[in-house]
Amino acid sequence: MKQNLTAAITAVGGYVPEDKLTNFDLEKMVDTNDEWIRTRTGIEERRILKGEGLGTSDMVVPAVLELCKKRGIDPKEIDCLIVATVTPDMVFPATANIVCDKIGAINAWGFDMSAACSGFLYALTTGAMLIESGRYKKVVVAGADKMSSIIDYSDRATCIIFGDGAGAVLLEPSNEGVGVLDSILRSDGSGRSYLHMKAGGSCKPASMETVANKEHFAYQEGQAVFKFAVKGMADVSAELLERNNMTGDDIAWLVAHQANLRIIDATANRIGLPKEKVMINIQKYGNTTAGTIPLCLWEWENQLKKGDNLVLSAFGGGFTWGATLIKWGY
Ligand SMILES: CC(C)(COP(=O)(O)OP(=O)(O)OC[C@H]1O[C@@H](n2cnc3c(N)ncnc32)[C@H](O)[C@@H]1OP(=O)(O)O)[C@@H](O)C(=O)NCCC(=O)NCCS
Repeated sequence: MKQNLTAAITAVGGYVPEDKLTNFDLEKMVDTNDEWIRTRTGIEERRILKGEGLGTSDMVVPAVLELCKKRGIDPKEIDCLIVATVTPDMVFPATANIVCDKIGAINAWGFDMSAACSGFLYALTTGAMLIESGRYKKVVVAGADKMSSIIDYSDRATCIIFGDGAGAVLLEPSNEGVGVLDSILRSDGSGRSYLHMKAGGSCKPASMETVANKEHFAYQEGQAVFKFAVKGMADVSAELLERNNMTGDDIAWLVAHQANLRIIDATANRIGLPKEKVMINIQKYGNTTAGTIPLCLWEWENQLKKGDNLVLSAFGGGFTWGATLIKWGY
């Protein structure tokens, strides 16, 4: 039976902070306006995690507890927990370890995965392989970022895009042919010059100078990233359908990384999907980096039907990109 084992998503949880940062708020902070942001990105507002000492784990915890409740399991039953993030609570230990401690997942091992906006797809594929190996029965995959912790709110080119949020899915073995069916994941580290954080790593540890130079914020060359993202997300999504002998007609939903509405539209057009079949919540949350895709699944969970084919597609810093084919299991 082992060769027929797939990793099915059996529950979804999500969390977005209550505090909103609207385009009109940003108008008061930088030289921008609501109309420009909406037409160039599709974003109207984002959520911001406020509160002294709160970090990414504080958003993952409620998301994971929600999915445990929905599935009727105790956190002690979780075998492994993976957190995709570029804004871990600390450089080490891993946010996954902190989450496991906070929820009482005392039997789980876990680790963080750093692949920026593609982090959830990388982690989902990894988690699915753990299930397919037959060794693990309950793997939680979370995508979460507190982007507000690394955004320069005087840089109008980046501060308008990002927000905070977390989503998580539970993976369990299935013999029904549902779950994660195929994945194409790519990376090209030569793209690092366009999207990165300059300091705080081992090349350039934090110093008075790096702080003064604002080198602990996300640096992005938006136009270049945009060009690579449009091509990367559309190409890999089309390739995934082609190698599974599918067309847009076979797909119930495109679950695209929410970076820019124009990038999402281009991907949907490329694989022949009408707007009604595309999950879009960028207007409410902006780009929550690793959080976008699981947050879409969370929001649309009630509309999904057993047997629905979903294409998940992302592009992000690295560069990293990919697409994953899922058959919904419940
Ligand atoms: C950032 C992004 C929204 C900018 O949109 P764009 O259409 O590429 O805009 P440009 O950078 O070409 O700038 C166009 C003009 O708008 C101006 N502008 C930039 N940010 C602005 C803002 N917030 N408000 C008003 N004007 C702005 C620029 O200065 C420029 O003015 P100029 O023509 O006088 O020089 C877009 O490039 C993008 O979404 N990139 C991908 C980002 C992304 O997805 N990142 C996450 C990882 S996937």
